[in-house]
Amino acid sequence: MTKKQIKNICCIGAGYVGGPTMAVMAQKCPHIKVNVVDMNEQRIADWNDSDLNKLPIYEPGLAEVVDEARGRNLFFSTSIEKAIDEAEVIFISVNTPTKTYGVGKGMAADLKYIELCARQIASVAKDDKIIVEKSTLPVRTAEAIKTILDSTGKGVQFDILSSPEFLAEGTAIQDLTRPDRFLIGGEQSQSGEEAVQALVDVYSNWVPRENIVTTRVWSSELSKLTANAFLAQRVSSINAISALCEKTGADVDEVANAIGKDSRIGAKFLKSSIGFGGSCFQKDILNLVYLCRHFNLPEVAYYWEQVIKMNDYQKHRFAKMIIDSLFNTVSGKKIAFLGWAFKKDTNDSRESAAIYVADELLQDRAEIHVYDPKVTAEHIYADLEYLQEHRVGQYVEQGEKMSMEEIRNLVTVHSSAYEAMKAAHAIAILTEWDEFKTYNWQQVYNDMLKPAFVFDGRNIAPKEEMNEIGFEVYSVGRGK
Ligand code: NAD
Ligand code: UDX
Repeated sequence: MTKKQIKNICCIGAGYVGGPTMAVMAQKCPHIKVNVVDMNEQRIADWNDSDLNKLPIYEPGLAEVVDEARGRNLFFSTSIEKAIDEAEVIFISVNTPTKTYGVGKGMAADLKYIELCARQIASVAKDDKIIVEKSTLPVRTAEAIKTILDSTGKGVQFDILSSPEFLAEGTAIQDLTRPDRFLIGGEQSQSGEEAVQALVDVYSNWVPRENIVTTRVWSSELSKLTANAFLAQRVSSINAISALCEKTGADVDEVANAIGKDSRIGAKFLKSSIGFGGSCFQKDILNLVYLCRHFNLPEVAYYWEQVIKMNDYQKHRFAKMIIDSLFNTVSGKKIAFLGWAFKKDTNDSRESAAIYVADELLQDRAEIHVYDPKVTAEHIYADLEYLQEHRVGQYVEQGEKMSMEEIRNLVTVHSSAYEAMKAAHAIAILTEWDEFKTYNWQQVYNDMLKPAFVFDGRNIAPKEEMNEIGFEVYSVGRGK
């Protein structure tokens, strides 16, 4: 195989990373055939749907990219073995969730899907291949993958690269087309360096060379966990300060703006919120903590664990603010939830703070009426069901398991925000969707029970206008 002229790429895993990443790669490299494969038949059918509104992932700009490349050099299928066989480079973009069983339960990354991919590749491959870890993995996973691949005895040469993905949901297309950097970790051998160069050549089709960083494999794997830990740490730091702001009368947005002007600190990731969510931050920090414990570094583990603890506290604080303000009980009260996604511009709700806030209110038997522009009712109930099954997390553990029947009686999902808010005792803003800023608040107020409470977990509501109308507005880091 000439590693320098890649013509066929396969990606295993058509999720939030595999789908957008490969769509952009196919768009930017029309000379390369890109096969994205997944064992989830429905997901693949959705990627192939002629109605672009039915793509399994909502991401601004994604439909246009898929429309351009799909059927030209971008293909979605369940024929995993065929795609592996044809490819010179195989990206592994499968999920690596936190383990929910056995050794490392609740902390370590579950690598069973990665291992399955390695075994599938080992059984199918007849010629040399470059394997790229795109999933976020613990340090030294490449070694485990290599061990499985090298055990085939077929004399096939596998080069393992780590090229973790840094896209954020909601801005994935922008992050992929103009990345701050693409990272590639490779082995320091001739064949390892050739493999790195082959991937550099692919990325160079649209990414300036100076934005492609190459490192050793372990540095690359650890850089991904570290980047997420640093980003999450900033959110937990500003959220810790938000609690102090509420006590002292300082305004957290003013504090964030003032400190963010310091170029050493920078303005990004200083937005106080109800706590970070998403499939990555918590999972990757837990994984980092687990690794530190494994390498007998308890102080380091403890340090990073606090980022998660502060995040749990922030979600709890918000739920408590609602209950305390509503005269110490939300039982039988209608609370409208604006937003369920873990951030705006995505239909993803994995680890969304909304789930945890809902759980604390449900423990007190609130009636929750949810509106989210992109998350489906099916997903909302699935999130609540998953939480009931596992009930992990320092505040979740204090509550009781509820039946799904009870939850379905208490939680209603609406397709109209105004319907969700009608006759409500309170509105809680959980996601910063832009459309929430455009509502007719006078109309909302007229239709609500009085006093009409608003709990703004994202600091996006027009507080002064709302106060004038007559709302009682509480917001994170700004108080009442
Ligand atoms: P996801 O759950 O959306 O997608 C993973 C897909 O892999 C699923 O569709 C699943 O069916 C498929 N899959 C699993 N095992 C398979 C197998 N053996 N064969 C074929 N298909 C298989 O997950 P995601 O959000 O895309 O995350 C994937 C990885 O990327 C994770 O390691 C994650 O930590 C990392 N990551 C995610 C993001 C993000 O924003 N979501 C960003 C950067 C990195
Ligand atoms: C994150 C990383 O940003 C990305 O580089 C990595 O590849 C995957 O994990 P993602 O989880 O998609 O991306 O979204 P991100 O924008 O990082 O937001 C994560 C959470 O933090 C969201 O719940 C968001 O609302 C919250 N957040 C973010 C804040 O509360 N305040 C901020 O200032 C920024």
